[in-house]
Amino acid sequence: MSEENLMKEIVSLLKRRGFVYPSSEIYGGFGASYDYGPLGIEMANNIKNLWRTDVIRAHSQVVETDGAIILNPRTWEASGHLGSGFADSLVECQKCHHRFKEEEVEDRRCPDCGGTTTEPRSYNLMMKTFIGPLESTQNQAYLRPETCQSIFLDFRLVADSMRLKLPFGIAQIGKSFRNEINPKNFLYRQREFEQMEMEWFTVESETDKWFEYWKERRLKWYLDLGLNKENLRLFEVPKSEMAHYARRVVDVEYKFPFGWHEIEGIHNRGDFDLSNHSQHSGRELNYSDNDHPEAFYPHVIETSAGVGRLMLAFICDAYQKVSGGRGEQSQRSEEVVMQLSSRLAPIEVAVLPLMKKPELTNKAKEIFEQLKFSFRIQYDETGSIGRRYRRQDEIGTPLAVTIDYDSLEQNDVTVRDRISMKQTRIAIEKLPLVLRQFLNESQFNES
Ligand code: GAP
Repeated sequence: MSEENLMKEIVSLLKRRGFVYPSSEIYGGFGASYDYGPLGIEMANNIKNLWRTDVIRAHSQVVETDGAIILNPRTWEASGHLGSGFADSLVECQKCHHRFKEEEVEDRRCPDCGGTTTEPRSYNLMMKTFIGPLESTQNQAYLRPETCQSIFLDFRLVADSMRLKLPFGIAQIGKSFRNEINPKNFLYRQREFEQMEMEWFTVESETDKWFEYWKERRLKWYLDLGLNKENLRLFEVPKSEMAHYARRVVDVEYKFPFGWHEIEGIHNRGDFDLSNHSQHSGRELNYSDNDHPEAFYPHVIETSAGVGRLMLAFICDAYQKVSGGRGEQSQRSEEVVMQLSSRLAPIEVAVLPLMKKPELTNKAKEIFEQLKFSFRIQYDETGSIGRRYRRQDEIGTPLAVTIDYDSLEQNDVTVRDRISMKQTRIAIEKLPLVLRQFLNESQFNES
């Protein structure tokens, strides 16, 4: 199947099964924005919580903040985003008026219609807004293009209030906005997206050591969550392609159906941000303690990943088509199964009465009540049992609990495993314990 068709299939599955919808769809969509549906938000929350566990909770020296989206506009002068550092070179086709980044166009020929393009002009990617009722230049502000800047602005406040000593990290998860000229590839490049960033502050002499530490740690996180090793690689970004603030950049890249692309950046930002904000604001963002009596600007190692981009990578990696079907009363020639890690899957356990008969549905609802606060769970009684297994396979649910007539006599149920399709009879009273054990074992097998 062509890469384009594979992406189309994935996008259509994600819409049909309630993961991701085009934003404002009834108005024809809007500006490369997407809405998470009920399953998408579960999965996004899993990604964020797994990141929190690994980056924040596993390190006593990392704390989390949640800054404002619209910061004092002087922030962006100091950060370099208002200058040429955050501008793309844009050309426009004089015939069809489509716009492209200069680097996407050869010999001033429009890639869409072959028309001649204009000379390039610089175009800042930050989204503008106005604060207060007057739409004047003085009132102009920007939606943040990266979450980390409020971390630098709050550096002193966080370090002092939390009594942090170097080295330490400040993390943040939140929305960022970029007026991308050519948004593409679904969740990969959006104009409104969520970032998970962590700024690790250290002394300059230890930046290389910490760069290695965070690079290896972040790579391991992806592997532990089941991403195929052969679809992951590290890419040392050449100096000429680095962002304006960076001294060294290594990208974690994933092999999407549309090619190898960055999913996360590990950056050495030096003391660029703290020194520039100190200069522009007149407030010193330097650091000293008993071990470092002379104040200095700490250096920063940053890890930065986008929630939507990661979701797309995890889904592309897990998406499998089984020709001839998976058996189990299916008549389809091809079935989709999403072999997602149980930690990422929106639903952990499906509760399915074998048929929609009151004696079975009542028992199934009792089991739903018993499990609902311990697992991410879905109750489904509509359609044949084979079709319901297929639906759960498509959304990556690792376990299904089926209640049949024997359950009423024997007080037990069948637990079906998505990967092996093996079915095991389990006593209802032991169900919470056994399900947790099954989920833990499946995690162990992933990494
Ligand atoms: N603070 C550093 C920074 O923002 P970046 O390389 O521009 O670095 C980091 O972005 C990560 O944010 C990327 O690796 C990607 O996962 C995500 N990201 C950036 N732009 C995005 C976009 N337009 N749509 C979706 N995700 C994006």
